[in-house]
Amino acid sequence: MSNRTPLIAGNWKNNIDHLHAIALVQKLAWTLRDADHDFDDVEVAVFPPFTDLRSVQSLVAADRLPITYGAQDLSVHDSGAYTGEISGAFIAKLDARYALVGHSERRQYHHETDEVVAQKTIAARRNGLVPVICVGETADDLEAQGPAAVPVAQLTAVLETIAADLDGVEPDAAPLVVAYEPVWAIGSGQAASPEQAQQVIARLRAAVADSLTPTLGEAQAQAWAASVRVLYGGSVAVDNVAGFLAQPDIDGALVGGASLDATKFAQIAQFRKHVRTN
Ligand code: 13P
Repeated sequence: MSNRTPLIAGNWKNNIDHLHAIALVQKLAWTLRDADHDFDDVEVAVFPPFTDLRSVQSLVAADRLPITYGAQDLSVHDSGAYTGEISGAFIAKLDARYALVGHSERRQYHHETDEVVAQKTIAARRNGLVPVICVGETADDLEAQGPAAVPVAQLTAVLETIAADLDGVEPDAAPLVVAYEPVWAIGSGQAASPEQAQQVIARLRAAVADSLTPTLGEAQAQAWAASVRVLYGGSVAVDNVAGFLAQPDIDGALVGGASLDATKFAQIAQFRKHVRTN
């Protein structure tokens, strides 16, 4: 058993305005409270659109909800003439804990390269946000190179760029999270199998150590590899989440569609109560 706290994260994508966000987070909190959810045992986070973050902050603060939250993206720049960009400093001011970086939809529709993802990772950390570094292969990548090659290369590119910033930093003090999301599994209803996901995620954890060792030395690099939480994402649902979390290297789930329904998302967060059926 690892001592990594599982993280169940809901990426709302471009859904739910700020009024509905309040209703959704309230319902999620009530549902989890009624189920006696232990938030120290399983962390629950939401990633609403930027325009909802202030409302979520106000609700979480007023009702002292144990739910954490983050942004779906951030600018590489902390301020300046970059129309339409959102600074990590502004996101941090809203008491957000996380920022997603490099989601496959950003890579695909906004042509974000590994270099941009690395700069966003640095920007998040500079502002005290925990980056959730998203990696994953497309169906074409899977066919041409197998499941692990592309996500490992994506993660390695980011970590080699940020390695110097991690030197001497305690992993617990400024953590990193990685999300493995096979692009072919996103929104398709066809999740990877837990065993497939475990295989790739074990490779990603090894890649953390490998890419940091030249800069940090082996002991520090291994400490980072052991502490990084690696999530699986792609058609996670109530009936498959427990299978993923039963794997030794899978530390949580990044949930898209099912996170828009408070009842379903709460059940996903309650994965420990599920009888494993797959
Ligand atoms: P789905 O859960 O809808 O497949 O989305 C996964 C995802 O992209 C989360 O970031």
